[in-house]
Amino acid sequence: MVIEEELKGEESPDGDGGFVVVPSPFTSTIFIEARISKDWSDIWELQQALQARLSSPDNGSAVEVGDEIMASPDASITLGQLFETYKDIIQSLKVVEYVGIETASTCYALNTVTVKLQAYQLYETEREEDSAIPQAESSLMPHVRFDGQWDELVFESDLKAELIWMMTNILRFSQRSGVGSRDINPLILLYGLPGTGKTTLCQGLAQKISIRLNSTYKQTKLIQIKTANLLSKYYSESAKQVDNIFTIITRMCQDDPERFICVLIDEVESIAFSREHSTYNGEAQDSLRATNALLTGLDRAKGLANVIFLCTSNMVGSLDTAFLDRCGLRIAVHPPSNASQYIILRGRIQKLVDQGHITSEKSLPRYNEAYIGYRADRDGPGAKILAILELINSGNAQSIGGISGRSLTQLPELAILRYLRGEDCDIDRALAFIKRFVLSQESQTVENRGHKRTHGQMDG
Ligand SMILES: Nc1ncnc2c1ncn2[C@@H]1O[C@H](COP(=O)(O)OP(=O)(O)O)[C@@H](O)[C@H]1O
Ligand SMILES: [Mg+2]
Repeated sequence: MVIEEELKGEESPDGDGGFVVVPSPFTSTIFIEARISKDWSDIWELQQALQARLSSPDNGSAVEVGDEIMASPDASITLGQLFETYKDIIQSLKVVEYVGIETASTCYALNTVTVKLQAYQLYETEREEDSAIPQAESSLMPHVRFDGQWDELVFESDLKAELIWMMTNILRFSQRSGVGSRDINPLILLYGLPGTGKTTLCQGLAQKISIRLNSTYKQTKLIQIKTANLLSKYYSESAKQVDNIFTIITRMCQDDPERFICVLIDEVESIAFSREHSTYNGEAQDSLRATNALLTGLDRAKGLANVIFLCTSNMVGSLDTAFLDRCGLRIAVHPPSNASQYIILRGRIQKLVDQGHITSEKSLPRYNEAYIGYRADRDGPGAKILAILELINSGNAQSIGGISGRSLTQLPELAILRYLRGEDCDIDRALAFIKRFVLSQESQTVENRGHKRTHGQMDG
C-alpha cells in the first residue's frame, strides 16, 4: 500500500497533429475535492469519471484556489456531459490547493496542470462514545460535524496547507519504511494561547487527511480523548486508563492496516505534565504515572504505520521534556495578525448577513478594499470594522498576548444578543453594537483591575 502519485509526463499528440503540452512530473498540481451526495452508491466510478474529465487535455477551463466549480456559470463547460448527469449528485466541487511553480496569475487552465481529484461522502453518524474506549469519542471521517470548519480558520502563513503536507509526509515515510521501523514518532503538537484555533485545526486536519488519503486508506477514524476526564473521573487509575487506550488503539491499527486512526489528545498537559515540576502529593503521583503511561504508549505506537497523534497544549512550558522529545513536529499557533483579524471578523459578520440576522445591501469589503478605502469612506462598513479592531488592539488585548480567534468569532453575535431590542438590525446598527460591546468589555477589565488593586492583589 503506497500513497499513489498519478503524475503525467509525456507530450501527447492532439487531434490536429500538433502537440498539447502535458505537464512533466514535477510541475504544478491542482487539488480538487468533490463532495458526493451520501445517497450515491458508486463514488469510485464517479471519481474516475470526474478525474478523467478534469484532466482531459482539451479541458482548458480556468480555475483558482477557492473556486466552487458547481456554483460557477461555466460549470457545464468545465464538466461537459457529466454536468447534466451528476449536477444533483455532486454537492460541491472545490479547488482546494495549488502546489507548484509560482506564476503571475493565480488562475490556472486545467490542461496546464496535473489535476488530483478526491471524491468523498460525509458520514452523518451520531456522536458516539466508543464502546471500546469509554474515555474517548470517535467519529468516522470525513464527518458532517466538521464540514466547513477548516475553511473558516484564518492564518497569516500557509499554516493549514503546510500542516496537511507535513502530516501526509509523516504517513508517507512510515509507509515506505515499513512497519516497525520508523524513527520519528507520528506525533504533532500544536501549542499556543487558548482560543487560537488549535483544537479546530486538529479536527479539520483529520477531516482533510481523510479526504486526501482516501485512496490509500479505506476508512479513517478520529478518536478524541477526553483528557480532562481521565484525571478527574478515573482518579488514581488514570495511568491504567491511558495504558488501556493505547492497547486498544494499537490493536485497532493492527487489526486493519487499511484503516487510518487519528488520535486527538486535546490539552495534553493534563497527562503530560512535566515530571520535574511535580510535587509529591497523591494527585501529582497519579498524574506522574499517567505521564509515564503516555510515554510508553507512544513508544509502542511508533511501529504502527496507520496512526497519527495530534496533540494540543495551551501550556507548552509545563510539558514533560521526554514528551516534547517525542513530538515529531512542534508547531506554534499564533493569534491572528491584523489582516487575519479583519478576515475573521468580516467573515463572521458576513455569515450573520447571509443568515438574515443582519441586513446589508452590499457584501462587506475584503481587507485590501477596506484598507485602501479607509480614508475615502470613513463611514463605510470596512472602515468601521478596521476601527473596531484598532480599538480592541489598543486595549487590553496586548496584555493577554493578542486577540484570540475565538473572541473575534464570538464578538458579532454576542454584541447583537446583548444590545438588540426587537428592531431590525442593519449593518450600521450591528457595527455600532459591536463597538459598544468592545468598549464595555474594556471598561469592565479596567474596573476589575482597579478592584484587584484595592484588594492588594497583584495584577497579572
Ligand atoms: N485563526 C482563526 N481563524 C478563525 N477562527 C478561529 C481562529 N482561531 C480560533 N478561531 C475560532 O475560535 C474557536 C475556538 O478555537 P479552538 O480551536 O477551540 O481554540 P484552542 O483549541 O486553541 O483553544 C473556533 O471555533 C474557531 O471558530
Ligand atoms: Mg482547544
